[in-house]
Amino acid sequence: MDQQEIIEGLKPVCLCKNVKKRVFLKYIAEGKTTLEELRAATGAGSGPCGGKRCTPKILALLEEKGFGTGA
Ligand code: FES
Repeated sequence: MDQQEIIEGLKPVCLCKNVKKRVFLKYIAEGKTTLEELRAATGAGSGPCGGKRCTPKILALLEEKGFGTGA
């Protein structure tokens, strides 16, 4: 893992719950490859914004990792 990847991993995805990108990457690597599974594992989407801010970012991350919905 290079420095850029470390910095990237520290970026917050879910601001309400303060869940960083590396947490999502860890769960994706463990086989949680749907929005629902990632939300359940991290608590993302259950903050005051109701997932309005983080849902598009989670979907983009899944897409980037090859688990997009194709939508
Ligand atoms: S940013 Fe994730 S629930 Fe608000």
